[in-house]
Amino acid sequence: MTATIGQSVDSLDTPVLIVDLDALDRNLGRMAAFAHEAGVALRPHAKAHKLPLIARKQLELGAVGITCSKLGEAEVLVAGGILGILISSEIVGPTKIARLIALARHARLTIVVDDAENAAAISAAAVDAGINIAALVEVDVGQRRCGVQPGQPAVDLAGVVARLPGLTFTGLQGYEGHLQHVYDRAERKALCDAAMEKLVATRAAVEASGLPVGIVTTAGTGTAEFAVLHEGVTEIQPGSYIWMDCNYARVAGTPYESALSVIATVVSRQRPNDVIVDAGWKALSTDGGMPVALDCPDLTYSPAGDEHGRLTVADGGTLPESGDRVAIVPSHCDTTVNLYDWLIGVRNGVVETIWPIPGRGKTT
Ligand SMILES: Cc1ncc(COP(=O)(O)O)c(C=O)c1O
Repeated sequence: MTATIGQSVDSLDTPVLIVDLDALDRNLGRMAAFAHEAGVALRPHAKAHKLPLIARKQLELGAVGITCSKLGEAEVLVAGGILGILISSEIVGPTKIARLIALARHARLTIVVDDAENAAAISAAAVDAGINIAALVEVDVGQRRCGVQPGQPAVDLAGVVARLPGLTFTGLQGYEGHLQHVYDRAERKALCDAAMEKLVATRAAVEASGLPVGIVTTAGTGTAEFAVLHEGVTEIQPGSYIWMDCNYARVAGTPYESALSVIATVVSRQRPNDVIVDAGWKALSTDGGMPVALDCPDLTYSPAGDEHGRLTVADGGTLPESGDRVAIVPSHCDTTVNLYDWLIGVRNGVVETIWPIPGRGKTT
């Protein structure tokens, strides 16, 4: 890393991932205040940042714990002193279960399960180790990813988990990930309401079976405002709100600011209507659509290879010169942050912090 504290952002080597620290602080504060006012717990998803330091800021602002996707992310967070963690993806197979048990000796972990045999395997390993792990039953509220079906299948699995030694059934997770980027607010609300009705009805059914349900966790940045209106939802787990990539910026009604960008340099200008920058697939993910050049509505970004990107100018627009620098807003924050070792925190155009991203690449 060639950045130094106090350096002007204009002299940073590129491509470089930077965060506007003022915007980050406002986003962190806004979501914390929203959850507080809504009367739900906030368990922010660290898959967006992969950084114990930002998790710590979220906890200081009142979060009840941190969510992450992978055991590898959880290991990094625990090593960074973050001890209350929900791992929101199923942990399957002996290798992973062994890692889970090892980590659970050092932290307060909550896991999700959607399969009785998997739950039994984790239970056996926990009993062997003499520990107990909190477990949520994951319910498929329409994403068609993981999770048992709402209603009786969830009730049945909750009963199994509650009877297993080494596990404590603590509630339900139902994540409506397929709705986060429904851009129209009214449509997103209607679809989210339908998903939440399944989730809270499942909660009622589990309780009717005699099991207390302490936690019902759900929602991302796009649906949090609707999920909290459903009685029975106890907490939200948004992640992207801290960055607001350009795809999320299209999700109407989300009151968070763009805080993340990649600065690239124009390295070639050979044609009348485009230039080439030093940020391609290795610097900007495109699974969420095309990144957008900040404050340059005339320019359209497209990848031009692993190391190169193309900025095409609209008729009548102005092309940057060779050597010019362009800030580009990623289209998917999670997968773009995953490409960088360092995050450079900038305030008023000056480098204030240089944070390593220890959770990057932690895909296991
Ligand atoms: C299970 C789960 N919960 C919460 C989130 C956070 O959603 P978002 O980043 O859209 O706020 C994600 C993101 O992928 C997720 O997979």
